[in-house]
Amino acid sequence: TCKIELTKSGKTFEVKSTDNLMLMIKSQGVPVPSSCGQGVCGTCKTKLVSGQVEMKHQGGIRQREIDKGFILLCCSKPVTPKLVLEL
Ligand code: FES
Repeated sequence: TCKIELTKSGKTFEVKSTDNLMLMIKSQGVPVPSSCGQGVCGTCKTKLVSGQVEMKHQGGIRQREIDKGFILLCCSKPVTPKLVLEL
């Protein structure tokens, strides 16, 4: 499992490491801007403060944004036991 901490909404919860982050965060009642759900549009771009994810995007994020710590929630799964997201 992975512990998810959301800095802005102040929520903490656990997900399975196979879970899609977007769906899990929405299921906690936290609104996440989203559109394509497939890593194309970039709407769900969110700053990952700490931890690592496995992201399978399709051009919705640039390498320099990834380098700054941004991820697309709709196509990411947790890798590390804890993730902190600016959300
Ligand atoms: Fe389009 Fe995530 S919703 S990239």
